[in-house]
Amino acid sequence: MGFNIAIDGPAGAGKSTVAKAVAQKLGFIYVDTGAMYRALALFFIRRHIDAGESEKIKELLDQIQVSLDYDDSGVQQVFLNKENVTSQLRREEVGKMASAISAYPFVREKLLGLQRSLAQNSDVIMDGRDIGTNILPDAPLKIYLTASVEARAKRRYDELCEKGEKASLETVALDIRQRDESDMTRAIAPLRQAEDAVYLDTSDLDIPQVIQSIMNLYEKANKGD
Ligand code: DC
Repeated sequence: MGFNIAIDGPAGAGKSTVAKAVAQKLGFIYVDTGAMYRALALFFIRRHIDAGESEKIKELLDQIQVSLDYDDSGVQQVFLNKENVTSQLRREEVGKMASAISAYPFVREKLLGLQRSLAQNSDVIMDGRDIGTNILPDAPLKIYLTASVEARAKRRYDELCEKGEKASLETVALDIRQRDESDMTRAIAPLRQAEDAVYLDTSDLDIPQVIQSIMNLYEKANKGD
C-alpha cells in the first residue's frame, strides 16, 4: 500500500501544476483523473455523440479502454484504446464534454477501478473532484485546493493570452462559473471538500508557495501528526 495524497478542487485552482511539482519532489506518481474523463469525452466527441445521449454513451463504454503510462520524464500519458491522446485532451471543448459526461454514474464507475488500483500499488498524488470523498476515502493527506472565481479566471486568461489565443476575461470567468456549477451540483460524487481535507485557498499565493504548503502538510501527515 502506497502513501496517497488526494487533491480535489474546482477547475483552474492550479491542482495539476502543483500536484505535478510535488510528485516530482517526493518521487510519487502523479495521477490526473480529469485526463481520464477527458479521454472518454474525446471518444464521444470524435463520434459526434452529444452529452445528452446517455443510452448511447452507456452502450459504447464497453468499447473504450483508458490506460495510463509515464514517459521518461515521469509525465503522465493517457491512452484511449492504445492511442496516445495526451496532447488532445486540454481543449476547452473536451473539458466541457468531460464535465457533462462525468455526471453519469456508469461513466464514473468505468474509471473507479483504475483510479483505485493505481493508488493501491504506488505512492501517488491524485487530483480530481471526488478523490478525497469517494475514490481514496482513507488517504492520509487530503487537500481541497481552491481559489476565487476572479483569481482562477485571471490565471486562465493570462495562460490563453500567452498561447496567443483570443479570449475575454468575462467569457473565461463565465466558463469557470458554469463548470463549478455542473461539477458541484451533480447528484453522484459532486465536488465538495471531504470532512478531513485541509482547505487551501490559493487566490493570493504563487505556485512555489502552494507547493511549499503542500510539502509542509505532507511532512506533518507522514509523521502521523
Ligand atoms: O480537472 P479537469 O478539468 O481535467 O476535469 C475535467 C472534468 O472531468 C471536470 O470538469 C469534472 C470531471 N472530473 C470528475 O468528475 N471527477 C474527477 N475525479 C476528475 C474530473
